[in-house]
Amino acid sequence: MPKITYVVPDGSPHVVDVPVGQSVMDGSVRNNLPGIVAECGGSCSCATCHVHVDEEHAALFDEATDEERELLEYADDVTERSRLSCQLIVTPACDGVRVTIPDSNG
Ligand code: FES
Repeated sequence: MPKITYVVPDGSPHVVDVPVGQSVMDGSVRNNLPGIVAECGGSCSCATCHVHVDEEHAALFDEATDEERELLEYADDVTERSRLSCQLIVTPACDGVRVTIPDSNG
């Protein structure tokens, strides 16, 4: 099962097994990690699942849709690596992916 590293807002890394087909958001919420609030439950309408994907891993995920891009405009701490983690679906190639959760999702 792919292992995803979540760097939570206090800076500590947490490595979690996330089943293929689930989202990066699911992996965090199911393991009760802090930082990804996921208020809308993954329907791309809240932006409280904002993460920064490490540059070398960004291409492993589908490109952001217009809907995702628009929502990110309202998030804080947005960078060119910003994504909504509910839109990042885990595939076998995602083993070793690292995401950093900004302190501004709540
Ligand atoms: S969980 Fe709401 S946009 Fe991702």
